Amino acid sequence: MKLAERLHGAHAHRHGAHEQGGQFHRHDASGGGADTPGVTLEHGRRYDAFVDAFFFGRRSAVYNRLAELSGARPGDRVLDVGCGTGYFAQRLARIVAPVGRGGTQSRQGSVTGVDASAGMLEQARRSARSAACEFVVGAAERLEFAEGSFDIVTSSLMLHHLPPELRARALVEMHRVLRPGGQLLIGEFRPPGTRFGRRLIASVTGPAMREDMRSALPGLIREAGFTDLRTGDLRPWITYARAARQ
Ligand SMILES: C[S@@+](CC[C@H](N)C(=O)[O-])C[C@H]1O[C@@H](n2cnc3c(N)ncnc32)[C@H](O)[C@@H]1O
Repeated sequence: MKLAERLHGAHAHRHGAHEQGGQFHRHDASGGGADTPGVTLEHGRRYDAFVDAFFFGRRSAVYNRLAELSGARPGDRVLDVGCGTGYFAQRLARIVAPVGRGGTQSRQGSVTGVDASAGMLEQARRSARSAACEFVVGAAERLEFAEGSFDIVTSSLMLHHLPPELRARALVEMHRVLRPGGQLLIGEFRPPGTRFGRRLIASVTGPAMREDMRSALPGLIREAGFTDLRTGDLRPWITYARAARQ
């Protein structure tokens, strides 16, 4: 098995899958996941171990900063799309449902994590420390939530897992489920600046990580109806975009 397959959560469910660029992608709802042409991951524990190493010890700091940048506040209802193992959701939960001195959660906000992979969600539920987090199977391109259900929508490292034609659809869905005045925070992979660096990353993680979303992301977000767009980078690998639903 290639390093990319082992470390990047190798799409182990080969039933109904095909090989593309050395990785196995699922295209059906076998194993309890959602039916999507997106690239789903399966091995949550391996994924977390890989990403911990891949961020050179900065994973926690980066995701804490993303949580701050999302604009989430105590009591907010947050949706994290493509939540994977729930690492980001847990950080968001500390903000929206902080635990008080007596161990009680005041101002009960909530974080709903949605992912197309049952395997990733299994790991998310295993490692969830906050009662404010819940994890549900679903596809970013057809979110099963009513219009305006959330104060904040976040999504990290998920959009590049969708085929280009579905990215706009997913952002329109995120816009629909946000309440007017709600905030969007997208975190995406920022590849290294050199060709050698990009090749190295692709050899470890797979070809999807060669893609630099920085040029396409602002246009996609605006076209989905968002306003007040602001962008920035976080070392080592993240580019982010914040925007609002009017
Ligand atoms: C690289 S992981 C990112 C996980 C997490 N957000 C993080 O930052 O660590 C991408 C996630 O997107 C999920 N995914 C792929 N296609 C999806 C879709 N159509 N809808 C929802 N999730 C999807 C995968 O299963 C995987 O858990």
